[in-house]
Amino acid sequence: MLELRHIHKQFGSRALLRDLSLRIAAGEIVALLGPSGCGKSTLLKMVAGLEPADQGSVWFNGQDITQQPPERRGFALMFQDFALFPHLNVLDNVAFGLVEQRLPRAQARQQASAMLGRFGLAAQAQQQVWTLSGGEQQRVALARALITAPRALLLDEPFSALDAELRQSLRDEFRQHIAAAGMATLLVTHDEQEARAMASRAVRLQDGQLQPLW
Ligand SMILES: Nc1ncnc2c1ncn2[C@@H]1O[C@H](COP(=O)(O)OP(=O)(O)OP(=O)(O)O)[C@@H](O)[C@H]1O
Ligand SMILES: [Mg+2]
Repeated sequence: MLELRHIHKQFGSRALLRDLSLRIAAGEIVALLGPSGCGKSTLLKMVAGLEPADQGSVWFNGQDITQQPPERRGFALMFQDFALFPHLNVLDNVAFGLVEQRLPRAQARQQASAMLGRFGLAAQAQQQVWTLSGGEQQRVALARALITAPRALLLDEPFSALDAELRQSLRDEFRQHIAAAGMATLLVTHDEQEARAMASRAVRLQDGQLQPLW
């Protein structure tokens, strides 16, 4: 269970998040919708531990993790702009999280290779990431987010650069993976259809607060 309790966040004179609370069960996908600039990405970064809250707390499985640094939370965050490492090839981008966890490089690459296979990228493993198409880069970012078997998954518009067919197949792949792995998942999307295809519940962020949509 991932939980936000009474979160407040202020940038200058603007209160971006006001007394905001949210609970996401293990294996549950909650969609987060809302107008551009309303604070969706900021909220995701707060859960990841990259952006401190002014007030309130973040909890995981009954433990207060508000002060925990990102690397200790065991969460995966996929940014809007992918943020792949330009100096690493596709395989090493995906293997990165495992190497960070001190898995021997050969083993990390083996697991990364299997993950790339699942995402239809086996042939691109040795390419530099900047030679890939936008949709391919997005799939590398998804593979990289999942490789460490995170406890929670934070996705910021993860399927936006994909064509309709690929989007559909990746949505299905993700839904299954999330349910099987029991990850609490927060999915930011502008696309209500995507929210309905992926999530069991949706909330709208507006004027700093969450309203239940369905
Ligand atoms: N570190 C910061 N300092 C000051 N303002 C910030 C900071 N980070 C974000 N903001 C502002 O907070 C607001 C919310 O930004 P955020 O990226 O969370 O929006 P968003 O809902 O994800 O929008 P979009 O749908 O366009 O991605 C924006 O107006 C942004 O400029
Ligand atoms: Mg955003």
